Amino acid sequence: MLNPSPSKLDIPASPPYPVPSTEEALPMPAARKPLAPKKPSAKISPSKASAPPAHAKAKPNTTSRFELAGPLYPIYTSVPYLSYKHSSYFQVYEKCFTPFIGKPITFIEVGVLNGGSLFMWRKFFGPNARIIGVDFNPGAKKWEKDGFEIHIGDQSSPVFWAEFFRKVGQIDILLDDGGHTNRQQIETVMQALPHIRDGGLIMVEDTHASYMPEFGNPSFHSFTSFAKSVTDKVNSRFPALKGTESLLRNRVFSTEFYESIVVFNIDSRRAVIPLPLSNEGESSDAQDFRHQHTTTGTLLNLEVKAAKLLAPLKREPFITLKHMLFKLIHRAVWEADHLKTRRYFK
Ligand SMILES: C[S@@+](CC[C@H](N)C(=O)[O-])C[C@H]1O[C@@H](n2cnc3c(N)ncnc32)[C@H](O)[C@@H]1O
Repeated sequence: MLNPSPSKLDIPASPPYPVPSTEEALPMPAARKPLAPKKPSAKISPSKASAPPAHAKAKPNTTSRFELAGPLYPIYTSVPYLSYKHSSYFQVYEKCFTPFIGKPITFIEVGVLNGGSLFMWRKFFGPNARIIGVDFNPGAKKWEKDGFEIHIGDQSSPVFWAEFFRKVGQIDILLDDGGHTNRQQIETVMQALPHIRDGGLIMVEDTHASYMPEFGNPSFHSFTSFAKSVTDKVNSRFPALKGTESLLRNRVFSTEFYESIVVFNIDSRRAVIPLPLSNEGESSDAQDFRHQHTTTGTLLNLEVKAAKLLAPLKREPFITLKHMLFKLIHRAVWEADHLKTRRYFK
């Protein structure tokens, strides 16, 4: 049974779809093991009113009603064939896929297994969607009789994907629920990237594999490390950072990180170098207080003063020495600043 009395903390102020009342029970699939009930939350006595709010310390709950309150979960439980998903995925699917409902999209799921998710996607997106399954297991071909396109091949093979896209053409969404190794996930993203229509997306699920020894992780070459490096490439579009051209930099508009899911929103029209803008409004010559009354500010001011003091030393090797010294001081100033926030990285 699901948490029968969710605390208000489970439910954001304005969810994008109606949340059932506390009395309403969410339907669970009959044959499945019920989810563990949430532990009752500790009561806060009035004397502890000034203590941090409960959610500031509490561990995450197990599945909340909010996660399963949208339209997809009832579809999931209604399809005739088995599908394995995690409860937290439904809200992410709904957030990212809802704009595509009813549209004539091409949707790929890597990982067919027992076929259940293909039926779920067809019901969710509607009859205009072209639903394609990819699996290494030739047995998946049997779902073609139900109107799905099935392609058999290894998702870590660029040769397979080249042939796949030659046959299928451009697509809108690729969902990777395949083998979950770093290589499979990364190669799938890289091979699909040129073939996603602007406005489409690539969603990779089960990214917790990036932290699991059975997948050779944690590693610098994990999928999640790759996804973080894609975020760096997105940020490298800022002109002052002088990023180098790449398909990721030019096509990935944004990255989204969820528990066990990463989304790459693809849009070459929006993945652009930004321009600095001014609305030409009236200025009151306000001072920028970024470093005012801070140790960093004082040290940076000292650095400027020292630079002025040493300015007359214009000959080599003084120039090189000055350059090295200021680089060192500058680094030390910022490292001192970083010490203050180091504890948040643990
Ligand atoms: C997690 S299951 C898919 C679950 C399914 N989407 C569902 O909702 O129940 C993973 C599937 O990926 C397939 N698979 C594993 N490695 C693969 C690879 N290298 N290329 C393509 N498919 C692969 C497996 O055969 C298996 O059917």
